[in-house]
Amino acid sequence: MFLFLFLCHVLRAGAVPLDPCAAIAGRTWASPLEVRKCLFSEPLNETIRANTIEVLNKTLAFHASVNYQVQAPKPFEDVHEDLHADLARFSVTNYSSDFAFHLDVYRAFKRLNDGHAWCINYCYDSLYISYIPTPVVLLTDADGSQNVHIAPEAFAVASAEFGDEIAFWQDSLPGELRGQLSSLSGARVLLINGEDPFVAVDANARVTGGYQALSTRQNSFFASYQRVASGWSYSMGNFALHAHPLTDAVELVVQRVNSSSFDVINLPYRSRFGSGAKNFTDYNSWRANNCLAQKSTNGIDIYAVETLPQSQQQQHHLQQHRRERKHPVNMIFEDAALQMDIDLPKELQPMTPPLNESYSVAQFYLLPDNVTGILALGSFSATSFDIFQESLLAGLEGLKKAGTERLIVDVTNNGGGYICIAHWLHRIIVGPKGTTEPQAGLDTKTRAGPLAHLIVKRIVAGGDPEELLSYNGVQWKNATGISFESSTDWLEPHVKTVINGREDAFSQRLGQECQPFSKDPPDHALFDPKNVAIVSNGRCGSSCSLFSITMAKLDHVKTVVVGGKKGVQQQYCGVVGGQSTDWTMIDTEIKSVHLKNHSLAPPDFIGNLAQGITWRLGFGLDDPEEPEEWQDHPADFNLPLTMETVNKPAKIWEQVASTVFG
Ligand SMILES: *[C@@H]1O[C@H](CO)[C@@H](O)[C@H](O)[C@H]1NC(C)=O
Ligand SMILES: *[C@@H]1O[C@H](CO)[C@@H](O)[C@H](O)[C@H]1NC(C)=O
Ligand SMILES: *[C@@H]1O[C@H](CO)[C@@H](O)[C@H](O)[C@H]1NC(C)=O
Ligand SMILES: *[C@@H]1O[C@H](CO)[C@@H](O)[C@H](O)[C@H]1NC(C)=O
Ligand SMILES: *[C@@H]1O[C@H](CO)[C@@H](O)[C@H](O)[C@H]1NC(C)=O
Ligand SMILES: *[C@@H]1O[C@H](CO)[C@@H](O)[C@H](O)[C@H]1NC(C)=O
Ligand SMILES: *[C@@H]1O[C@H](CO)[C@@H](O)[C@H](O)[C@H]1NC(C)=O
Ligand SMILES: *[C@@H]1O[C@H](CO)[C@@H](O)[C@H](O)[C@H]1NC(C)=O
Ligand SMILES: *[C@@H]1O[C@H](CO)[C@@H](O)[C@H](O)[C@H]1NC(C)=O
Repeated sequence: MFLFLFLCHVLRAGAVPLDPCAAIAGRTWASPLEVRKCLFSEPLNETIRANTIEVLNKTLAFHASVNYQVQAPKPFEDVHEDLHADLARFSVTNYSSDFAFHLDVYRAFKRLNDGHAWCINYCYDSLYISYIPTPVVLLTDADGSQNVHIAPEAFAVASAEFGDEIAFWQDSLPGELRGQLSSLSGARVLLINGEDPFVAVDANARVTGGYQALSTRQNSFFASYQRVASGWSYSMGNFALHAHPLTDAVELVVQRVNSSSFDVINLPYRSRFGSGAKNFTDYNSWRANNCLAQKSTNGIDIYAVETLPQSQQQQHHLQQHRRERKHPVNMIFEDAALQMDIDLPKELQPMTPPLNESYSVAQFYLLPDNVTGILALGSFSATSFDIFQESLLAGLEGLKKAGTERLIVDVTNNGGGYICIAHWLHRIIVGPKGTTEPQAGLDTKTRAGPLAHLIVKRIVAGGDPEELLSYNGVQWKNATGISFESSTDWLEPHVKTVINGREDAFSQRLGQECQPFSKDPPDHALFDPKNVAIVSNGRCGSSCSLFSITMAKLDHVKTVVVGGKKGVQQQYCGVVGGQSTDWTMIDTEIKSVHLKNHSLAPPDFIGNLAQGITWRLGFGLDDPEEPEEWQDHPADFNLPLTMETVNKPAKIWEQVASTVFG
C-alpha cells in the first residue's frame, strides 16, 4: 500500500510539467540556461504589449532629444535611432515571448546611446546578473603596444565577491589549470571566441548604450573603479558582467604571466539573483512579485495625496518629488547590474587617509609631492545636498591650506546628480568671473509638446496652488535671469524648430536657476584653471558633463581620459542633457493637474516598467544655438594604463600630475 501511494505520487509529480521558475527559485546562483527557461516562459500578452507601447509613445513627447537622435551629427554619427519607427515595429512584430518583446524595446532605447533615455522592466533586467570571474583591462606596454589583459586584481575581486561559487569556475578550468583560477590574473588575452579581442569590444560598444562616443562605449568593456558613498567600488565592466542571462560561456586564448605558452579556456557565465529582485518560489510568484506595477511605478496626484492618509510608498514618492523640485538633477541611469556594490580591493585603494573634510562621494587627498590636491568625486549626488555643498568648499580650502596649488578632479564613472552642485563646484574652483556668474552651467530648453503646454495652462489657471510641480514657471528663469511667475505661460511663445526634417517645438531659452546659491561662495578663485585637470575613463555624464564642459571649454582646464584605445579620439564626457527625469515625474505632473484622462495622456504602466527622459537640453558653448549634447568633447590626453597603475587611483593621479603639470 505504502509503495503504491509512493509510486502514484512519483508518477503524478512526473506528469505535472516542470515549472522552470520553481527550478531556480530560492537559489542564489544558476546557469544562464536555467534562468532563460524561466524568463522566456511568459508568452507575449497583447494587453501588456499595447499598454507598454502606448505609455512609451505618449511619454516620448516629453523627451527633448527624440528628433535629434534620428541622426546625430559628427562625431556622433553612430547615433541614429528613430524611436517612433521602433514603436510601430514593436506593435506588429511576432514575439515568441514577453521577454523577447521587452529585449527589443530595451535594445532600441539602448541604441539611443543616451543614458537619460531608457526603458527598464524589473521583471527581466538585472533580475539575474551574469558573471565570469575574469574582468579585463586594456594595458599599454613599454613599447607602446596595447593588449587586453585579464585584470591583475581579477582573482582578488572575484574570490571576495563570489565566495563559494568560485569553486564552480575552478572546476571548469581545463587540465592542469583546474583549481588555478588565480593564475589567470594579469594574463594577456589573445583571442575572445576565436577573434581579436577588439571584435568583442566593438560588438559590446554597439549595444551597451549610455554614451554617444564610441571611445566611451569601448571603455565600458573594461573594469574600472568609482568613489561611492560607502567607499571605493569596483566595476566589472561589460565583459565580465551582463544584465541578462543570454550568454552561456566565452572561449579565451590567454598567455599567463611569465608563461611562454598559450592556454585555451572555456569559461561559463553564472547568473546570480539580483540584489534588487524580489524573492519568488515559482512562476506565479515570480510574475506577482517582480512583473506587475508597484505603488511607485506610476505617478500620483500630489494634491489628492496631500489631503489623504498616505501609504509609506506615497510619502516616499511625495518626498522624492519635493526633493527633485528643490534640487533638480541631471543623472544618467545605470542598470542595477552596473551599479557598483563590489569593493575595490584594499591594496588598490589610495593608501593615504583622505582629508577630514571629505564627505560621501567626495574625498580629498594630498599627493606625495605636497603640491597637488585631489578631489575624487564619484557622483554629483549625496544624501544631504547641504552637507555635500559645504564639504566641497571645505575640502578644497583644506587642500589649499595644506599648501597645494594644483588640483586633479577624478570623475571616473561619475554619472551626475544635482545640477546646482555642478554649478557650485565650477564657481568655487575658478572664482567669480564671466564664466561662472550668473551662469556657471548651461542655458537650457525643454520640449513644448501639446500635453506639456496643457499642463502649464492648468498651472497658470491656479492648478498648482502650493507650487509643487516642475512645470510651474516659478521654478525657472528666462534667458536674462528673470524668474517667471506661476501665472506665466512660460512655454509661450514656443520656438518652432525643424530637426532632421521633422517639426519640433521647444520652450524659450531658460537661464540658470542655481544662483544665488544657498551658501555664499568665496569671493576669490581657489585654483588657477591652468593648474586644474579633470580625469576619468570618459564615463562622466550628465551633471558631470555640465561641470567638465564649462571647466574645459570656458576656463581651459586640461582633460584626461585613462586607458582608451590608441588612435581613437577619447571624449572626456558625454550625455550632457540639461535635466533628466523619468516617467513617474511626468505622470505626477499630469495627474496633479487632472489631465490623466486627456487623449494625449499616457495610461499607467501595467507592468513593472520605468522610462527615463531627457527633460531639458543644455545649449552649446562652441555653437550656442544648438544643444551641447552633440558637440565635440575631445580629451587633451589619453593616458595609457599599465599593470602597475590600472585601477589604482593614487598611481593614476601621480601619473596625471606628471603628464599634465610636468
Ligand atoms: C494579459 O495581461 C492582462 C493585464 O495584466 C491580464 O488581465 C490578462 O489576463 C492577460 N492575458 C493573458 C492571456 O494572460
Ligand atoms: C504614437 O502616437 C502617435 C500620436 O498619437 C500615433 O500617431 C502613433 O500611431 C503612435 N504609435 C504607436 C506605435 O502606437
Ligand atoms: C506574424 O504571424 C502571423 C500569423 O502567424 C502572420 O500572418 C504574420 O505575417 C506575421 N507577421 C510578421 C511581421 O512576421
Ligand atoms: C613573473 O616573473 C617575475 C620575474 O621573475 C616575478 O617577479 C613575478 O613574481 C612572476 N609573476 C608571476 C605571476 O609568476
Ligand atoms: C529572500 O530570500 C533570501 C534567501 O533565501 C533571504 O535571505 C531573504 O531574507 C529573502 N528576502 C525577503 C524580502 O524575503
Ligand atoms: C581628522 O580626524 C581624525 C579622526 O577623527 C582626528 O584624529 C584628526 O585629528 C583630524 N585631523 C584634523 C587635521 O582635524
Ligand atoms: C611632503 O610632506 C611630508 C610631510 O611634511 C614630508 O615628509 C615629505 O618629504 C614631503 N614630500 C616632498 C616631495 O616634499
Ligand atoms: C525676461 O523677463 C524680463 C521681465 O519680464 C524681460 O524684461 C526680459 O526681456 C526677459 N528676457 C528675455 C530674454 O525674454
Ligand atoms: C476626467 O475628465 C473629467 C471631465 O473633463 C474631469 O471631471 C475628471 O476630473 C477627470 N478625471 C481625472 C482622473 O483627471
